[in-house]
Amino acid sequence: MLGCFPKMRGILPTFCLVLGLAFSTQANLILHDDSFQPDHILRVTAQNYSQACMDRYSVLVNGSSPGPELRLQEGKVSWIRVYNDMEDSNVTMHWHGLSAFAAPFSDGTPMASQWPIAPGHFFDAEVRPEIGYAGTYFYHSHVGFQGVTAVGPLIVEPADPSPFEYDEERVILLSDFFAKTDDVIEEGLTSSNFTWSGETGAVLVNGQGRLATNATGACSLAAISVEPGKTYRLRFIGATALSFVSLALEGHNLFEIIEADGHYTKPVKTDYLQISSGQRYSVLLKAKTEEELQQAESRQFYFQITTLGRPAVLTTFAVLEYSSPTATDLKTVPATPPLPVANVTYGWMDYALESYFPDTDFPTAAEVTRRIVINVHQNISTHTVWLQSGYDWMETFPKSPYLVDLYQGNLDLDASYKRAIESGLGFDNLTRLYPAQINEVLEIVWQNQGAVNNGGLENHPFHGHGRHYYDIGGGDGLYNPEENEKRLNGTHPVIRDTSVLYSYRKKTTPLAPSGWRAWRIRVTNAGVWMMHCHILQHMVMGMQTVFAFGDQEAVMAQSGPIEGGYLVYGGSAYGNSTYSPLVQHFF
Ligand code: C2O
Ligand code: CU
Repeated sequence: MLGCFPKMRGILPTFCLVLGLAFSTQANLILHDDSFQPDHILRVTAQNYSQACMDRYSVLVNGSSPGPELRLQEGKVSWIRVYNDMEDSNVTMHWHGLSAFAAPFSDGTPMASQWPIAPGHFFDAEVRPEIGYAGTYFYHSHVGFQGVTAVGPLIVEPADPSPFEYDEERVILLSDFFAKTDDVIEEGLTSSNFTWSGETGAVLVNGQGRLATNATGACSLAAISVEPGKTYRLRFIGATALSFVSLALEGHNLFEIIEADGHYTKPVKTDYLQISSGQRYSVLLKAKTEEELQQAESRQFYFQITTLGRPAVLTTFAVLEYSSPTATDLKTVPATPPLPVANVTYGWMDYALESYFPDTDFPTAAEVTRRIVINVHQNISTHTVWLQSGYDWMETFPKSPYLVDLYQGNLDLDASYKRAIESGLGFDNLTRLYPAQINEVLEIVWQNQGAVNNGGLENHPFHGHGRHYYDIGGGDGLYNPEENEKRLNGTHPVIRDTSVLYSYRKKTTPLAPSGWRAWRIRVTNAGVWMMHCHILQHMVMGMQTVFAFGDQEAVMAQSGPIEGGYLVYGGSAYGNSTYSPLVQHFF
């Protein structure tokens, strides 16, 4: 199999193709020739691109960052074709928050759930968001640091009318600008001579931004246009690489939160949002009436975005603009921020959010069959790495994707499970997997610890692939299940896919427990699911884990027999300019 994985080259060894065809005996295996029309087409390129008046060689989707907005329908199948038009890099596309509803080999996690898409090839992903998951998502490359620019909004439209009334909606996608290229950043972060990526140069809104230092230049602040008197659903997407931000809007009353990570919540009023990489929130915003605008000095108001928990605070802006006879000024950046500078609010909205629709599936403490405490900390030995249960995980660790190994009988999950249980950590260091069996109820605890070398601590937005987990909160110190159980009393934990493990201080004693985040998950969907910090730098430095839900039988029972073209790098499930892919229709 290894011969089928020429590093980064778009040449397909013939025997891989032949192997792929040899398996093609299933009825649901369809040649996606010219008669096949995908619902969406994403073309990934790497090229020079300018944001906030700064140039960079970046990975783009359909020529821009963010890429186009995708709209999927709740309960319906969508086909998304992803072309890798880059010459020398692999790519994958991940449907962030929708892992459980993507066909097998389509979650976009390279070397976990699938082979990456080789240069010159394309891949058709099939996604069917389950009813109950209408909401705000995004897609992004899951390879290396590409996700800093290779991102785009993804909205799942509801089958039934939204329980909330609003006139229109606006997407507000936050991303970071880094001056160094992806390659330079990855090289620096993984080198024995560690070099930090540098801090974000700008937090961009819908790819746009302007810094106070941009005295001249064509770049503008992003404008979010509204009309007086209307109610808007603002969909905020935390597509940043690093930045954890606080966001507030000048001159307006409270936001009302109605959605977190793809699920409607009971409305909660707030005057600011705290958004990490990977999180999404929808809020209702009542636009000012024409009368109110007459009283105001201006018809434009600043969104103020402040980075949290970094060595230096960066404040950037976007503009809420009301139609006006005079053009909106998108070039002036306020010299003094109009709103107070924000600090981290520990546990923002923890224990407070509640599902809009009654949820009867929350696993109680008594139902939990196994608690997996994952200690996370930084260590500097030959390299600077982030470790979970003492190990890092990088795309370069497995020789082939776990899901592929499972299908080929090369991964014995029963043995792995045994080792994981014997380790006492739930972790099998041979495969670097956290295996779990169907019907287990897991409590996963991310336990922050001081760095080995200097006791340093950071915020980590942990993201779970697969089915969304119940977030059962977070706190300072060491996780205490009894204490948290008391705290949970009378609350209604929501399911979500990204929540923050906070650093409550900058430093502590090396390896001292200092902050935790806990989740509960019923193990139902068999598959290979990554759970990782969503900060791209941290991912590149090993802050990723892989869970395997179910054994080989369970995975194959859930996913069905798989065509061989998925099992090799550049296999026949991946098309190129000379041939069409043989694609398994899963749903
Ligand atoms: Cu949005 Cu595995 O990530
Ligand atoms: Cu992190």
